[in-house]
Amino acid sequence: MKSPFLLENQEEYLEWRNFKLSQYPVCQENFIVKFNNNIIDKGNINLLKKLIKKYNFAIYEFESKLTDYDLHNFCSKLDLNKSISNLFSDSENISNITNKSEPKNKITNSEYIPYTEKRLNWHTDGYYYPTESSIKSFLLHCVQPAKKGGENILLDHEIMYIYLRDHNPDYINILMQKNIMKIPKNKNLKDSNAISGPVFYIDENNFLNMRFTSREQNIIWQKNDTIKKIKDFMFSFINEDTKYTFKLLLQENQGYLANNILHKRESYIDGKKKRLLKRIRFSNRIGKRNANIE
Ligand SMILES: [Fe+2]
Repeated sequence: MKSPFLLENQEEYLEWRNFKLSQYPVCQENFIVKFNNNIIDKGNINLLKKLIKKYNFAIYEFESKLTDYDLHNFCSKLDLNKSISNLFSDSENISNITNKSEPKNKITNSEYIPYTEKRLNWHTDGYYYPTESSIKSFLLHCVQPAKKGGENILLDHEIMYIYLRDHNPDYINILMQKNIMKIPKNKNLKDSNAISGPVFYIDENNFLNMRFTSREQNIIWQKNDTIKKIKDFMFSFINEDTKYTFKLLLQENQGYLANNILHKRESYIDGKKKRLLKRIRFSNRIGKRNANIE
């Protein structure tokens, strides 16, 4: 089948687009797939896959605490076996996302926003990686929610693609250019290189992927004026829309799995116990577009 994501395939695009949009609005109450800790039910795994096939993400809930081993085992049921490490992940490639910032009176240059109580703006994970080693999916699991705040807000990047293409196909043309977004090399890291890449690209399995960050520092955009216009247009949609965006406040033992969609996090305040989320990233995505899941 011709890719609906290429501008020249308008007929295929319209067919795909209309089907995609017909899945909205979503009833959020039916969106949490519940699992028993001892038996990971195959029917429920298929239900998760079915939701992810439609929306590129889904929420799950377990009855009680999971160990790191349980988390990896759960992921393996979704064929997520190729986890990716990063500077802050542990030996199991799990990132323990919690507030690690220094007390306010201490000035530190090493503060890294995910590991603070601050708001994290819209992005896809690993936008600073080249497309050959991109992050295709991730799991975010809540061990301990914050006392207040810390909501995750999600938007399927395929919906963003539709919104942009319907408004102006030239925006897609620009965002698919291979050098549109450049991340300069990190002077603090040995062997670091500058990375250039597109915002949207079609991978070897014909899936649409997105590399994006709304941060302003350490990003060099080509066609900066046009990009500003596109970003303003994107944010007008993201910030106002409620039909396609999801706001989640993950509870203990809940999490979500996503094919690296657009997401952000609100700021939060810790209680006695610090908010703790576990994240595992993967180099493959969840599900195949044509998988025969009933
Ligand atoms: Fe993220």
